Amino acid sequence: MVNDIIKKFQKSNILLNNNAYSEISSSEDYDYLIGELIRYVEDNDEFIITTKTIRDYQQRERERIHEEIKENPETKKIRQTLETPYEILLDTTNKSYTDGDIQDLNKYFNSRYEKLRKIIQQNPEFRTVNDLKTTKQKIDSLHSIGIINSINKTKNGHVIVEIEDPTGDASVILLKDDEDLITQSSSLVKDEVIGVVGSTNGNLIKADEIVHPGVIRQDISGTAGMDFSIAFISDVHIGSKQFDETAFNRFIKWVNGNEGDDAKREMANNLKYLVIGGDLVDGIGIYPNQDKELKIKDIYDQYEEAARLLGDITDIPIILSPGNHDATRLAEPQPAITDKYAKGLCEQKNIEMVSNPSIVNLDGVKVLVYHGRSFDDMVMAMNITHADTDQIMKLLLEKRHLSPIYGERNALASEFEDYMVMEEVPDVIHTGHVHINSYTKYKGVHMLNSGTFQKQTEFQKIYNIVPTCGQVPILNKGKMKLLDFSS
Ligand SMILES: [Fe+2]
Ligand SMILES: [Fe+2]
Repeated sequence: MVNDIIKKFQKSNILLNNNAYSEISSSEDYDYLIGELIRYVEDNDEFIITTKTIRDYQQRERERIHEEIKENPETKKIRQTLETPYEILLDTTNKSYTDGDIQDLNKYFNSRYEKLRKIIQQNPEFRTVNDLKTTKQKIDSLHSIGIINSINKTKNGHVIVEIEDPTGDASVILLKDDEDLITQSSSLVKDEVIGVVGSTNGNLIKADEIVHPGVIRQDISGTAGMDFSIAFISDVHIGSKQFDETAFNRFIKWVNGNEGDDAKREMANNLKYLVIGGDLVDGIGIYPNQDKELKIKDIYDQYEEAARLLGDITDIPIILSPGNHDATRLAEPQPAITDKYAKGLCEQKNIEMVSNPSIVNLDGVKVLVYHGRSFDDMVMAMNITHADTDQIMKLLLEKRHLSPIYGERNALASEFEDYMVMEEVPDVIHTGHVHINSYTKYKGVHMLNSGTFQKQTEFQKIYNIVPTCGQVPILNKGKMKLLDFSS
């Protein structure tokens, strides 16, 4: 490689100093950079490349890109006439009170239980509920609600589910001959709240039916009369060597009305909001040896770079929620990113920092933003893959909980209140984290995963995970469209 790089410059009669050489050779795409630098010094009648030459070239490139992507005057005119009201319906940022003792854990689970019990009790069958302490006697028609402690298969093929409520606990048997129930049991997970319909002999509850809090089909959706569009992105991973800056700039160029055919430009001119669902930057120390994968090794610099890139979006609100790579508490709910790390972003007037999860009402469209770290636990518990996000999202919506499994990979803060319960059914659920796009409409709710702007990493290569880089879901006038900005 040494000879290769030096030869290329020699051929053009250009000298290279040592520092410039080491910077060029450590660049991911050095072939492209060499070509660009040669053109740059020739244009400027120079004959030696130093690190300053590289800085000057990079600055000129930034300015060129900025000129190319800054808001189209036509788009600006249209946006000045658009109203972009929004309201934050759930933000947990300043609602963290726990210091993590066992009392708090009880309060946390009680909150989870009570909230989900209330939802299950909207089902008339569960208007009266048998407390578990009363199930030590014979009951022919039983309706109980409990949190799952464990799920086990017996030697004979039956499934035993241990449940608990604030009054006591009980064992529920799902008989092996009841195929529907046995199939359903494969999607049950620890710590979720379920309703049980069945009978008991005072020892074991025999289940006839397992009921999830569930969701009634949403016929009147906030997206029905929507005459604008919302763009959803996540997992940008700015700072990573694999961050696809070209694709990201192309996306911003589109936002600003400068990219694509007439249909795409019209969609951009209708754009009123951008929602970012976490992992805006790659972070530091997120996994062992991450620094080898980083182009920007300092967290402040990563956020400054993010501010520079998002700074080209000036006239629409940007809702920004964190993910597990961002600089905030890892345990969910994650408070919003603050100016401690992301000063530039916090100072940008059109950026609204919110928690993960959060709910925002964007001119009548209720969007639940959740990064999706709990998918890791769901994948493990249910033996499915990260590409099955739509299946996971359906299940979570039925369970009415964003992260039911407690104490595994996804850390949950045992707050006094469980904010991960989906008390309201939103119009849109926006997730990320898995780096693979998905979209489904389930019972009237748009459920999407917004993919990534990070190309395949070494880790993903090993596990054969193919990210959908640069593909952005746009909810345009109530219909989901996927725009491809990949490079
Ligand atoms: Fe990510
Ligand atoms: Fe993530």
